Amino acid sequence: MNEIKIFCPATIANLNCGFDVLGVCLEGVGDEMIIRKVTAKGITITKITGADLPLETEKNVAGVAALAIMAAAKPDCGFEIEIHKKIKAGSGIGSSSASAAGAVYGINELLGQPFNRHQLVDFAMKGEAIASGCEHADNVAPCLLGGFTLVRGYNPLDVIKIKSPSELYAVVLHPQIEVKTADARAVLSPTIDLKAAITQWGNLGGLVAGLYTEDYELIHRSLQDVIIEPLRKKLIPGFDITKNSAMDAGALGAGISGAGPSIFALCKGQSTAEKAAYAMSNAYLETGIPFDIHLCRINEEGVKTIVN
Ligand code: HSE
Repeated sequence: MNEIKIFCPATIANLNCGFDVLGVCLEGVGDEMIIRKVTAKGITITKITGADLPLETEKNVAGVAALAIMAAAKPDCGFEIEIHKKIKAGSGIGSSSASAAGAVYGINELLGQPFNRHQLVDFAMKGEAIASGCEHADNVAPCLLGGFTLVRGYNPLDVIKIKSPSELYAVVLHPQIEVKTADARAVLSPTIDLKAAITQWGNLGGLVAGLYTEDYELIHRSLQDVIIEPLRKKLIPGFDITKNSAMDAGALGAGISGAGPSIFALCKGQSTAEKAAYAMSNAYLETGIPFDIHLCRINEEGVKTIVN
């Protein structure tokens, strides 16, 4: 096999109480990539559609992630990468991670899978770092592993896949404005209040327990963010009315997807998710900002080969 076509799914990072450690992979929304094995060594990005992103390997998240796996695998060949973006950059649903994860997944497949998916997270994280200014795996891990993932530790990287409740749906409203992850990180405080930390880690434990036990009431109680959301929501016009509308429609919880500006809601069952999507759309219309809305099941598989 010398060429592979890949689907690289969108993801929601943080999930309110899990800043930089929790994420989930979404069905149906994602980019496509084509990766070709070539005799000339090195990585060349030959084509990008759907976004104005750098073609230079060292400036592109897919290029940097590809260089990371190449440095470890030391293959006697090179690769060409085509990126067909459907997820907008700066959308908050893991655009850069999809490219980084797709690059390392595709190269690994074409090399005969020298690495497992957990090992690929480390390489993809190197690409993600150039988009946000720091290495974090809460988008690349769910993109590569599927489902919900928890980054238990970064040094060394320790990623755990968490069971997804069967009736869970995600709604993502994506306002057509860009919030750069680096800018959304710049508004955060480097220190946090102990009381707030206690609330946050209680909720994170509660959310993980709720996901494992399919306890939707516990998931509802735990989907809170007392540290990041209060600082970041001012970057997102219409955040409060949209979040409140989702909660009024019966969502289990709602918040900022990744670094924003997308706003997510998690819901039990399709009909509640449809009600939440409708309520969120109606609320967001008031801002006058164009938006997309996605209603997704949880994607258990993660990045995958597209078989024609
Ligand atoms: N955890 C990251 C953040 C996700 O919120 O900054 C976005 O890349």
